Amino acid sequence: MNRIGIVFYSRSGTGRVVADRLAELTRWPVHEVRDAAPRIGLYGDLRCIVDSVFKRKPAFRYAGPSLDSYDHVVLITPVWLRSLAAPMRAFLDTERPLLPAYSVICVMSGYGGFRAVDDIATVTGARPRSILLLKQYDVLAGESDAALCRFKRQILTAGQASDWADPVLPAVD
Ligand SMILES: Cc1cc2nc3c(=O)[nH]c(=O)nc-3n(C[C@H](O)[C@H](O)[C@H](O)COP(=O)(O)O)c2cc1C
Repeated sequence: MNRIGIVFYSRSGTGRVVADRLAELTRWPVHEVRDAAPRIGLYGDLRCIVDSVFKRKPAFRYAGPSLDSYDHVVLITPVWLRSLAAPMRAFLDTERPLLPAYSVICVMSGYGGFRAVDDIATVTGARPRSILLLKQYDVLAGESDAALCRFKRQILTAGQASDWADPVLPAVD
């Protein structure tokens, strides 16, 4: 598995910190999914809530390469209302035909990460190969390196697709 890329969405910067750090540790290229209309302030908060509650798929911008130019994509997304952040939902809904094997990193205050991963599996119709849930506090305190290194190792050392048929998903704690 040679071609691995990172695709992240981040509203307030935590996911960006994770994406940049993982890129430093791996040299994998990073690409961003952005909001078409920035979510700033209280109005931005409200839009996040409405988009989550109604499972809306808001407009987004993505200037990265086609996902099928990778063998494996690492998706990084925040958790909103115990579910997948709406811009990443919209991105995956559009791009799912091109999505190769993938893994997920969720950033969150503390809960709902597995629900968000479940959302991704539902939208894409495929299970992730590895999962990492990170708390914002740990990320911003610079305490996620060890978990990111284990996550990287898990992706690189996992075998071919058939080895991933195990019903238990590998999750890095
Ligand atoms: C509308 C909204 C809903 C959120 N819901 C949750 C939640 O259910 N569980 C949680 O742990 N964190 C929740 N958070 C916190 C974010 O997941 C957390 O701050 C995350 O680190 C933000 O990532 P970002 O800085 O990359 O945007 C929520 C944040 C917002 C804006």
